[in-house]
This record gives sequence, C-alpha cells and structure tokens, in this order.
Amino acid sequence: MLELNEKIKEHFRNPQNVGEIENPEGMGAINNPVCGDTTKLYLKIKEGRVEDAKFLSFGCAVTIASASVFTERIKGKEISTLFLGTDKEVVQRLVSLIENELGEIPPIKLHCPPATVQVFLESITGYLEREGRADLSLRAKNLIPQISEYYKRGEEKE
Ligand code: FES
Repeated sequence: MLELNEKIKEHFRNPQNVGEIENPEGMGAINNPVCGDTTKLYLKIKEGRVEDAKFLSFGCAVTIASASVFTERIKGKEISTLFLGTDKEVVQRLVSLIENELGEIPPIKLHCPPATVQVFLESITGYLEREGRADLSLRAKNLIPQISEYYKRGEEKE
C-alpha cells in the first residue's frame, strides 16, 4: 500500500478551500495528462492580488492535498510578483508553493502537484488579458509546456 506522509493525509482528510467562487476573475479546469484526474480552480482577484481561491477535484489524495495547500498559499499573493525571474524559476516557485509544504511525495505520485500549477496558469490567462496585460497572459500560457518536465518526474523510479 502507498505510504503518504502525515501532512498529505491531513490535507486530504481536511482539505481547505473546497468549493466554487461565484463570478470568479479567474477559472480553469484540467484533466491531469498522466492519469486523467480532474481539478477546477476558481480565483477572486482584486487589484492584481489573489483575494480568494477555491477548488473542486475528482483526484487522488495527493492532488486534493496539493490543491488544498496551493489555494492556501496563493491567497494574498500579488500576481505580477509570481512571474519574477526566468521561466524555470517561475514554474519552480509555483511547484514549490505546494511541495515545500507537503514534504516528501512518493515518486509514483509526483505527477499530481503539477496539475494544480497548470490549472492556476490557465485560470489567470483570461484575467490578465482582460486587465490589458496581454504580455503576462502570453507568458503564463507559454509556461504551461514547461510543466511537462514535472509530470515526468516519477516515471523512471516507478
Ligand atoms: Fe491522478 Fe494523483 S492526480 S493519481
């Protein structure tokens, strides 16, 4: 049986921010490209800052824990500061918001957290465009293919 650490189990048993946001500024949905599990993300954004974040997921324990942690950590963050640095740094920063908090993730489950990062990037592109930030919107879109590296991480260890 797969052993998950206490932090993951805690977020799985008691996930934070489950639900929908009415009239969200940002919204996205993803089927994890590795396993097909679904996650939807809703964002309330005010003056460039994430005011609230909620999610719905038909996914495994690690996916639910990832979305729980991510929605907690992203609240209060200014969107533009998340994009500081190189593309690699930006993606790593977003993945770390989840993984620094959850601790060790079994290799076979390493494809789960990146889906939350991908759905976040997808959910803010429309918002950024509407705000007249086509440059940042395009950057967010172009970062999505870079997440594929993170989906592959557990493969060679399985
Ligand atoms: Fe499908 Fe975790 S997201 S197994």
